[in-house]
This record gives sequence, C-alpha cells and structure tokens, in this order.
Amino acid sequence: MSKAINDEKVRQHWNLQLKENSRNYAWVVKFFRQIIFSFQNCGDVIVKYSSQEEFYLERAKNKFIFLLFGMVVHQVDHPLIKHKITLLRDHSVKTKQFRELTREITTILCYEATRDLPTSHHRVHTPIAPADGHRISASIGLVPILRAGLGIVEGFLDLLPAAQVWHIGMYRDPKTLAPVEYYNKLPCNPTVDIVYVLDLMLATGGTAIATTHIVKQWGVKNIKLVCLVAAPEGIRAFESEHPDVPVVVCAVDERLNEKSYIVPGLGDAGDRLCNTLATH
Ligand code: URA
Repeated sequence: MSKAINDEKVRQHWNLQLKENSRNYAWVVKFFRQIIFSFQNCGDVIVKYSSQEEFYLERAKNKFIFLLFGMVVHQVDHPLIKHKITLLRDHSVKTKQFRELTREITTILCYEATRDLPTSHHRVHTPIAPADGHRISASIGLVPILRAGLGIVEGFLDLLPAAQVWHIGMYRDPKTLAPVEYYNKLPCNPTVDIVYVLDLMLATGGTAIATTHIVKQWGVKNIKLVCLVAAPEGIRAFESEHPDVPVVVCAVDERLNEKSYIVPGLGDAGDRLCNTLATH
C-alpha cells in the first residue's frame, strides 16, 4: 500500500474516531480520562523523573494507558474555525491578515482546550445581593515552541490573561532532523498546575514530543498540546510518545511531503507569521 493511501486511511480513521468519540463514547472517554488524570495528579507533590528508570516507567505507563484508551485528539469542529482556517491556508493572505486570523482562531481553540479546567466555589457581591459563582482553581502555563508557537499565545492570553508564558526554543538539526533545544529558562520547580504546549503545526511531531518531555520533566503532568494543523504522521509519532497528552487541533491534513511540510497545510507557518518568507 502506498504511503499516501496509508496516510489517508490514518486521517480517515482519526476523523471517524473523533466523530465516534464525540457522538457515542464521549462520556466513556471523559469518565476514564478523569480517572487517569486523578491517578496521575494524586499526591500533593508531582515529582520529576529522578532517574532513567523512572522515565522509562512513565513511558511504559503511558503506553499502557494508550493501549487501553487510545489518545484523545480533539479536532475542533466549528464553522468559524473551518471558515477561518480556509482563509488562513490561502497563499495570497498577507502577514497582517495571517496574524489577525491566527489570533481569532486560537481564541476559539483556547475556549475548546480549556473546557475541563477545574473551578472552585467563589462568592461575590453584586450591587443587589451575594452571588455564588466559580473561579478557575488551577494555575496555567503556556509553553509556546519558538517561533511559530508565538502565534497562539495572544489568542490564549485574550481568554487567560493571568497565564504564565514559558518559551521553549527548538530547531530541527538539518542533517539528523532531530529536535535541538536552544532556549529553555524554566525554573527548577514547576510554577503552574496545567500547561498548554503551543505550536502552529504538528508535522513530524519531533519538537512537540521533545517539548512535552521537557514540561513533564519540569514536573507538570496535566498537559495539552494545541496546534492549528496536524499531519497524520505527527499525530502517530506524538501518540506513541505521549498518549496521556490530549491534542487539540483545527484540522488533520493529508500527509507530509518530502520536505516534511504538511500537505496541503499552511506553508511555512513561522515565516508567514513573522513575515520572513522573502528572506530565504
Ligand atoms: N512547519 C511549518 O511551518 N509548516 C509545515 O507544513 C510543517 C512544519
């Protein structure tokens, strides 16, 4: 079977699975995920991997979770997202509009990605009477992967103004294609409960996988990956390393091309965002 057909099958499989999950099994998935996350977050202190063995143990646990429940890929199926992502794909869209659209789309993505945030009881006083309400009870960190991940930060901060932003710099070694970390100023101990790892594209998955490892090693276990467009190859790679990390995306595209660009994708999203296309 050719690679393209195989990838198309994977894409169809994900689309089907997403629809199935949302229609019939949404409550089952939610129930088991809740158990998993309670299990993962039990205890006051979330310890870092203190040894290689612990790291492998964590991976084995993740594989087990994946075998049992599969990874959760949430493709945001909203008419506004579909409309705006189509505009974003258009090669004639210039930087200003590209940034505006990205901000609008990522605000909606943030709304979807934060559906399961914990809240606690909070009482305020209206001009008339006391009112019982809620407030978000977790501290939130945004981890954009430099540089395309910066495109998601503003849309998220529009809805989460108190979130901490911790940048991680990653580039792909041109020879080995392996991700190389070049910027990481995370403090020794985690300062947030929940992290959203942000990147515009999930292509091979290499940088998202490496960044998620960094966040886990930092000590945060409650993580989501948020991207605009994903390739089936990237989803496969990410799920095999981090099946415990849900992925929130706007679109799952056909495949990667020989240069590891997503087809049809957005082109070089970092260049389009930073207006550096013409410099190559
Ligand atoms: N990075 C991009 O900017 N675009 C792709 O298609 C893949 C990786």
